[in-house]
Amino acid sequence: MSSSYDRIGVNYAELRKPDPRIAARVGAALGPARTVLNVGAGTGSYEPADRQVTAVEPSTEMVRQRPPSAAKVVRARAEALPFHDGAFDASMAILTVHHWSNKATGLREMRRVTRDRIVILTYDPSFRGFWLADYIPGLTALDEAQMPRMTDYEAWLGPVDFSPVPIPHDCRDGFLSAYWRRPAAYLDPRIRAAMSSFWVLGDVSEALSRLERDLDIGAWAQRYAELPSDYPPVMHSDSAHLLAVLPDRSH
Ligand SMILES: C[S@@+](CC[C@H](N)C(=O)[O-])C[C@H]1O[C@@H](n2cnc3c(N)ncnc32)[C@H](O)[C@@H]1O
Repeated sequence: MSSSYDRIGVNYAELRKPDPRIAARVGAALGPARTVLNVGAGTGSYEPADRQVTAVEPSTEMVRQRPPSAAKVVRARAEALPFHDGAFDASMAILTVHHWSNKATGLREMRRVTRDRIVILTYDPSFRGFWLADYIPGLTALDEAQMPRMTDYEAWLGPVDFSPVPIPHDCRDGFLSAYWRRPAAYLDPRIRAAMSSFWVLGDVSEALSRLERDLDIGAWAQRYAELPSDYPPVMHSDSAHLLAVLPDRSH
Protein backbone atom coordinates (compact mmCIF):
# COMPACT_ATOMS: atom_id res chain seq x y z
CA MET A 1 0.00 0.00 0.00
CA SER A 2 1.74 3.21 -1.11
CA SER A 3 1.00 6.51 0.58
CA SER A 4 2.18 10.11 0.24
CA TYR A 5 3.23 10.00 3.88
CA ASP A 6 5.91 7.42 2.98
CA ARG A 7 7.65 10.42 1.41
CA ILE A 8 6.55 13.35 3.55
CA GLY A 9 6.30 11.54 6.88
CA VAL A 10 10.03 11.04 7.41
CA ASN A 11 10.92 12.54 10.84
CA TYR A 12 7.21 12.99 11.62
CA ALA A 13 7.45 11.49 15.12
CA GLU A 14 10.24 13.89 16.05
CA LEU A 15 8.29 17.08 15.30
CA ARG A 16 4.67 16.03 15.54
CA LYS A 17 4.27 15.05 19.16
CA PRO A 18 0.79 15.29 20.68
CA ASP A 19 0.10 18.50 22.55
CA PRO A 20 -1.27 17.55 26.00
CA ARG A 21 -3.88 20.35 26.00
CA ILE A 22 -5.29 19.26 22.67
CA ALA A 23 -5.07 15.61 23.75
CA ALA A 24 -7.22 16.43 26.78
CA ARG A 25 -9.87 17.92 24.48
CA VAL A 26 -9.83 14.83 22.28
CA GLY A 27 -10.06 12.54 25.33
CA ALA A 28 -13.02 14.48 26.72
CA ALA A 29 -14.78 14.45 23.35
CA LEU A 30 -14.50 10.65 23.20
CA GLY A 31 -16.76 10.50 26.26
CA PRO A 32 -17.26 7.13 27.94
CA ALA A 33 -16.14 5.05 24.93
CA ARG A 34 -14.07 2.00 25.83
CA THR A 35 -13.17 0.82 22.33
CA VAL A 36 -11.85 3.48 19.95
CA LEU A 37 -10.83 3.37 16.28
CA ASN A 38 -8.16 5.90 15.28
CA VAL A 39 -8.29 6.49 11.51
CA GLY A 40 -5.27 8.07 9.81
CA ALA A 41 -3.47 7.33 13.04
CA GLY A 42 0.03 8.20 11.89
CA THR A 43 2.63 7.65 14.57
CA GLY A 44 0.04 7.34 17.35
CA SER A 45 -0.45 10.95 18.48
CA TYR A 46 -3.58 11.55 20.56
CA GLU A 47 -4.37 7.86 21.03
CA PRO A 48 -5.89 7.76 24.53
CA ALA A 49 -3.95 5.45 26.85
CA ASP A 50 -7.00 4.66 28.96
CA ARG A 51 -9.09 3.03 26.17
CA GLN A 52 -8.73 0.03 23.92
CA VAL A 53 -7.53 1.62 20.68
CA THR A 54 -7.25 0.12 17.19
CA ALA A 55 -5.31 2.24 14.71
CA VAL A 56 -5.75 2.42 10.93
CA GLU A 57 -2.87 3.82 8.88
CA PRO A 58 -1.90 3.32 5.21
CA SER A 59 1.71 4.59 5.32
CA THR A 60 4.57 2.16 6.03
CA GLU A 61 6.80 5.05 7.06
CA MET A 62 4.27 6.31 9.61
CA VAL A 63 3.69 2.81 11.00
CA ARG A 64 7.46 2.36 11.32
CA GLN A 65 7.62 5.41 13.62
CA ARG A 66 4.91 4.20 15.99
CA PRO A 67 6.36 3.61 19.46
CA PRO A 68 6.18 0.07 20.86
CA SER A 69 3.53 1.24 23.34
CA ALA A 70 1.19 2.51 20.59
CA ALA A 71 -2.06 0.73 19.79
CA LYS A 72 -2.09 -2.18 17.36
CA VAL A 73 -2.29 -0.88 13.81
CA VAL A 74 -4.15 -2.16 10.76
CA ARG A 75 -2.82 -1.18 7.32
CA ALA A 76 -5.90 0.22 5.58
CA ARG A 77 -7.52 3.41 4.34
CA ALA A 78 -10.51 5.28 5.70
CA GLU A 79 -12.42 4.65 2.48
CA ALA A 80 -12.50 0.85 3.08
CA LEU A 81 -12.33 0.05 6.78
CA PRO A 82 -11.86 -3.69 7.37
CA PHE A 83 -14.24 -3.91 10.35
CA HIS A 84 -17.82 -5.03 10.81
CA ASP A 85 -20.69 -2.60 11.36
CA GLY A 86 -20.69 -1.04 14.81
CA ALA A 87 -17.36 -2.64 15.78
CA PHE A 88 -16.22 0.31 17.97
CA ASP A 89 -17.79 2.50 20.63
CA ALA A 90 -16.16 5.63 19.19
CA SER A 91 -13.78 6.62 16.44
CA MET A 92 -11.40 9.51 15.92
CA ALA A 93 -9.70 11.19 12.95
CA ILE A 94 -7.08 13.74 13.95
CA LEU A 95 -5.69 16.19 11.36
CA THR A 96 -6.12 13.59 8.63
CA VAL A 97 -9.45 13.98 6.78
CA HIS A 98 -8.03 16.56 4.33
CA HIS A 99 -5.57 13.90 3.09
CA TRP A 100 -8.21 11.33 2.13
CA SER A 101 -8.88 10.80 -1.55
CA ASN A 102 -12.62 10.35 -0.93
CA LYS A 103 -13.64 12.18 2.21
CA ALA A 104 -17.36 11.42 2.03
CA THR A 105 -16.75 7.68 1.65
CA GLY A 106 -14.17 7.65 4.44
CA LEU A 107 -16.49 9.43 6.86
CA ARG A 108 -19.40 7.15 5.95
CA GLU A 109 -17.13 4.20 6.66
CA MET A 110 -16.32 5.66 10.09
CA ARG A 111 -20.05 6.06 10.73
CA ARG A 112 -20.67 2.44 9.69
CA VAL A 113 -18.11 0.92 12.08
CA THR A 114 -18.85 3.26 15.01
CA ARG A 115 -21.67 2.69 17.49
CA ASP A 116 -21.50 6.06 19.21
CA ARG A 117 -19.55 9.23 18.55
CA ILE A 118 -17.01 10.20 15.92
CA VAL A 119 -14.43 12.80 16.92
CA ILE A 120 -12.65 14.79 14.24
CA LEU A 121 -9.96 17.45 14.65
CA THR A 122 -9.63 19.61 11.59
CA TYR A 123 -9.38 23.19 10.30
CA ASP A 124 -12.05 25.50 9.07
CA PRO A 125 -10.94 26.49 5.54
CA SER A 126 -13.03 29.66 5.72
CA PHE A 127 -10.81 31.07 8.49
CA ARG A 128 -8.74 34.04 7.31
CA GLY A 129 -6.83 35.03 10.45
CA PHE A 130 -3.47 33.34 10.06
CA TRP A 131 -0.71 35.85 9.29
CA LEU A 132 1.44 33.30 7.42
CA ALA A 133 -1.06 33.50 4.55
CA ASP A 134 -0.15 37.21 4.21
CA TYR A 135 3.29 35.97 3.12
CA ILE A 136 2.11 32.80 1.34
CA PRO A 137 -1.36 33.45 -0.15
CA GLY A 138 -1.24 29.97 -1.72
CA LEU A 139 -1.97 28.57 1.75
CA THR A 140 -5.53 29.89 1.57
CA ALA A 141 -6.14 28.34 -1.85
CA LEU A 142 -4.65 25.06 -0.68
CA ASP A 143 -6.90 24.94 2.39
CA GLU A 144 -9.93 25.68 0.27
CA ALA A 145 -8.98 22.95 -2.18
CA GLN A 146 -8.29 20.17 0.31
CA MET A 147 -10.16 20.95 3.55
CA PRO A 148 -13.85 20.07 3.73
CA ARG A 149 -16.07 23.00 4.70
CA MET A 150 -17.71 22.73 8.10
CA THR A 151 -21.08 22.31 6.37
CA ASP A 152 -19.74 19.31 4.42
CA TYR A 153 -19.42 17.33 7.65
CA GLU A 154 -23.07 17.85 8.49
CA ALA A 155 -24.10 16.90 4.97
CA TRP A 156 -22.09 13.68 5.17
CA LEU A 157 -22.71 12.73 8.79
CA GLY A 158 -25.78 14.51 10.15
CA PRO A 159 -25.80 16.82 13.18
CA VAL A 160 -22.32 17.82 14.36
CA ASP A 161 -21.26 19.56 17.54
CA PHE A 162 -18.48 22.02 16.62
CA SER A 163 -16.12 23.43 19.23
CA PRO A 164 -13.09 25.65 18.61
CA VAL A 165 -9.74 24.40 19.87
CA PRO A 166 -7.29 27.12 20.91
CA ILE A 167 -3.80 26.45 19.60
CA PRO A 168 -1.37 27.20 22.44
CA HIS A 169 1.48 29.57 21.54
CA ASP A 170 3.90 26.88 22.72
CA CYS A 171 2.04 24.04 21.02
CA ARG A 172 4.08 20.84 21.18
CA ASP A 173 2.63 19.41 17.97
CA GLY A 174 4.37 21.01 14.99
CA PHE A 175 1.44 21.31 12.58
CA LEU A 176 1.14 24.24 10.18
CA SER A 177 -0.35 26.88 12.48
CA ALA A 178 1.37 25.63 15.66
CA TYR A 179 4.12 28.25 15.46
CA TRP A 180 1.80 31.23 15.08
CA ARG A 181 3.69 33.15 17.80
CA ARG A 182 7.11 31.69 16.93
CA PRO A 183 7.46 33.07 13.38
CA ALA A 184 11.17 32.26 12.98
CA ALA A 185 10.25 28.57 13.12
CA TYR A 186 8.87 28.81 9.57
CA LEU A 187 12.36 29.67 8.35
CA ASP A 188 13.63 26.27 9.50
CA PRO A 189 13.41 23.67 6.69
CA ARG A 190 13.35 20.81 9.21
CA ILE A 191 10.24 22.26 10.89
CA ARG A 192 8.56 22.97 7.54
CA ALA A 193 9.18 19.39 6.41
CA ALA A 194 6.76 18.15 9.09
CA MET A 195 3.96 20.26 7.56
CA SER A 196 2.32 18.66 4.54
CA SER A 197 1.30 22.06 3.10
CA PHE A 198 4.92 22.95 2.39
CA TRP A 199 5.31 19.75 0.36
CA VAL A 200 2.41 20.81 -1.84
CA LEU A 201 3.16 24.55 -2.14
CA GLY A 202 6.51 24.13 -3.87
CA ASP A 203 9.02 26.98 -3.88
CA VAL A 204 8.16 29.55 -1.21
CA SER A 205 11.69 30.89 -0.82
CA GLU A 206 10.77 34.42 -1.86
CA ALA A 207 7.98 34.59 0.75
CA LEU A 208 10.27 33.20 3.43
CA SER A 209 12.96 35.75 2.56
CA ARG A 210 10.38 38.48 3.07
CA LEU A 211 9.42 36.98 6.43
CA GLU A 212 13.07 36.77 7.47
CA ARG A 213 13.67 40.38 6.51
CA ASP A 214 10.52 41.54 8.35
CA LEU A 215 11.65 39.69 11.46
CA ASP A 216 15.11 41.24 11.24
CA ILE A 217 13.87 44.83 10.89
CA GLY A 218 11.00 44.46 13.38
CA ALA A 219 8.26 44.89 10.76
CA TRP A 220 6.66 41.54 11.61
CA ALA A 221 6.50 42.42 15.32
CA GLN A 222 4.96 45.78 14.50
CA ARG A 223 2.42 44.39 12.05
CA TYR A 224 1.24 41.60 14.31
CA ALA A 225 1.64 43.42 17.62
CA GLU A 226 -1.94 42.56 18.53
CA LEU A 227 -1.18 38.84 18.84
CA PRO A 228 -2.01 37.76 22.40
CA SER A 229 0.97 37.32 24.69
CA ASP A 230 -0.50 35.04 27.31
CA TYR A 231 -1.85 31.54 27.24
CA PRO A 232 -4.51 30.66 26.30
CA PRO A 233 -4.46 32.63 23.08
CA VAL A 234 -7.46 32.07 20.92
CA MET A 235 -6.09 33.62 17.80
CA HIS A 236 -7.06 30.53 15.89
CA SER A 237 -10.25 29.84 17.68
CA ASP A 238 -12.06 29.69 14.37
CA SER A 239 -9.35 27.75 12.67
CA ALA A 240 -8.98 24.44 14.50
CA HIS A 241 -12.19 22.68 15.34
CA LEU A 242 -13.08 19.57 17.23
CA LEU A 243 -16.13 17.92 15.76
CA ALA A 244 -18.15 15.43 17.74
CA VAL A 245 -20.72 13.55 15.71
CA LEU A 246 -23.30 11.63 17.67
CA PRO A 247 -25.27 8.82 16.09
CA ASP A 248 -28.75 9.59 14.85
CA ARG A 249 -30.96 7.60 17.24
CA SER A 250 -34.19 8.96 15.82
CA HIS A 251 -34.89 5.79 13.82
C1 LIG B 1 -1.03 14.78 9.35
S1 LIG B 1 -1.00 13.05 9.56
C2 LIG B 1 -1.94 12.88 11.08
C3 LIG B 1 -1.54 11.66 11.85
C4 LIG B 1 -2.09 11.58 13.26
N1 LIG B 1 -3.54 11.47 13.26
C5 LIG B 1 -1.64 12.76 14.07
O1 LIG B 1 -2.50 13.50 14.59
O2 LIG B 1 -0.44 12.94 14.22
C6 LIG B 1 -2.16 12.45 8.36
C7 LIG B 1 -2.23 10.94 8.31
O3 LIG B 1 -3.33 10.53 7.49
C8 LIG B 1 -2.92 9.37 6.79
N2 LIG B 1 -3.79 9.16 5.62
C9 LIG B 1 -3.67 9.72 4.39
N3 LIG B 1 -4.66 9.26 3.58
C10 LIG B 1 -5.41 8.41 4.32
C11 LIG B 1 -6.57 7.62 4.05
N4 LIG B 1 -7.16 7.63 2.85
N5 LIG B 1 -7.07 6.86 5.05
C12 LIG B 1 -6.50 6.85 6.27
N6 LIG B 1 -5.38 7.59 6.59
C13 LIG B 1 -4.86 8.35 5.62
C14 LIG B 1 -1.48 9.65 6.45
O4 LIG B 1 -0.76 8.49 6.06
C15 LIG B 1 -0.98 10.28 7.73
O5 LIG B 1 -0.49 9.34 8.63
